[in-house]
Order: sequence, then C-alpha cells, then structure tokens
Amino acid sequence: MIVIRSAQEIEKIRKCNRIVAEVLGLLKNEISAGVTTKHLDQLAEKKIRELGALPAFKGYRNYPATICASVNEVVVHGIPNSKRKLRNGDIISIDLGVYCDGYYGDAAGTFPIGSVSDKAERLMAVTREALFIGIGKAVAGNYLYEISQAIQEYVEGNGFSVVRDFVGHGIGTELHEEPQVPNFKPDGNGMGPVLKKGMVLAIEPMVNMGKHDIKVLGDNWTAVTLDGKLSAHFEHTIAVTEGEADILSLASLLRT
Ligand code: MF3
Ligand code: CO
Repeated sequence: MIVIRSAQEIEKIRKCNRIVAEVLGLLKNEISAGVTTKHLDQLAEKKIRELGALPAFKGYRNYPATICASVNEVVVHGIPNSKRKLRNGDIISIDLGVYCDGYYGDAAGTFPIGSVSDKAERLMAVTREALFIGIGKAVAGNYLYEISQAIQEYVEGNGFSVVRDFVGHGIGTELHEEPQVPNFKPDGNGMGPVLKKGMVLAIEPMVNMGKHDIKVLGDNWTAVTLDGKLSAHFEHTIAVTEGEADILSLASLLRT
C-alpha cells in the first residue's frame, strides 16, 4: 500500500529533510584532502542531534554509522572509517537519513575532492541531472515507471549505466515504504502505479561509469562496482503534487 500524506504530514517530512539538507551542506563544505570519512560521520551525528533529530541509518538493520560514505568505486553503503583519508581526485557519495517527530528524511549527493577527472565530473553531472529529470516526471497522473524510464534513458544515452540492485523508495513514517522506485524500467509491459498527490518518494539514481553490476563486500554493506570503475549517487525526497514535485530535501532555492 502506498500511503498518501496529508499537508500537515508533508510539512513534518519537510522539516526532517531540511535537517538532512543542512547537514549535507555542512559535510560538503568540510570535504577536503586529508579528512577521514569517520570525521564526516561524527560531524553529521553531532549536528543532527543539535538540531533535535536522530540519525536514521544508525542501527537500521545494524548499520553502524550516521552517514554512508562511498568513495570512488563504492556505489552505496560505504561505512565511515577512521583510516580512509580523502585524497585529491577522489569522489565521495554521502547519503544521510534523519528521524524527527515520527517522520524520516533522506538525501544524498556525490562531491569531488580537489580536482577530479573530466569523466568523473561528467559522471556526477549526469547522475544529478538524471535525478532532476526523474523528479520532473513525478507528477500526479503519471505512472511511477515514467520516472524510472526517464532516468534510465538519460543515463544510458550518456554512455553510463544505472545500478539495478538498489532502488529508491517511498518514505514517511518508515525509512523505506512502498513503492520501490527503480532507476530503470522493470521488465514487462506494466508502468507501475499511477502517482497521486501526497505520495512521498525518495528518488535516488546510482550511476556507474562502466557496467551496472555490483558486488557487496565481506562487511555485508559496502557495495562496489564489479569492474572497479567510479559510481555516483544523488537522492532527494519529494512529495507528489498536481504540478511540479515539491522537493522536500532542498537546502535552499538553489537546486542542490
Ligand atoms: N539512503 C539509502 C536508502 O535509502 C541508505 C539507507 S541504508 C542504511 O536506502 F542502512 F544505511 F541505512
Ligand atoms: Co534512500
């Protein structure tokens, strides 16, 4: 069942997502060569608690940290680590969820450390643009898989591939609710459920520079590209309306 949220509920979800956006902004400014992913994690947890919220990922299926910090070939779910210092030329995907007043917020972005290759820049730009193209299809009356298809076509048209093993999701009183929001059109003729005003979705394309295949490392979390090539990830939580989607995890009027 896909829950329809009232206007009041959407304001509560927005409040959580504003915290997500604020903390992501803080982390983005803190990223530089020499910084450890553990430091970013500690900073995030402190700030979330100061803002009166709780880290949503910590303890979720025993996940041990506040953020997912996924460097280079890590697709998602990279566990912050006190040894891994960021280096010039790396890219890092930071994924963050918070819980406040009974609701969840979830967003992610991929950022460069110092100067990165043109290809890495293009991977990040295409992934971010794919997210906004998907968001553009998240309108009441459209089918869910119009989002998926638009993301897939844009990514593949740019010569990259979309990850199949992880998908976006509904979000609200649980971190992961129905429906799943794939970044590719699932096999078959179906286009999925019709979107309705009040549905809240976390749309999150994960894009690989090479093939779409991934594997999960022995820690049972860290997902890496099978071919070792770079991967990027952007995510926003949005509410479906009759018009343009309401992006709940925007930090400001900037589309960041
Ligand atoms: N943002 C991701 C998601 O939406 C990460 C959550 S998994 C966790 O699925 F375990 F790290 F919490
Ligand atoms: Co998510």
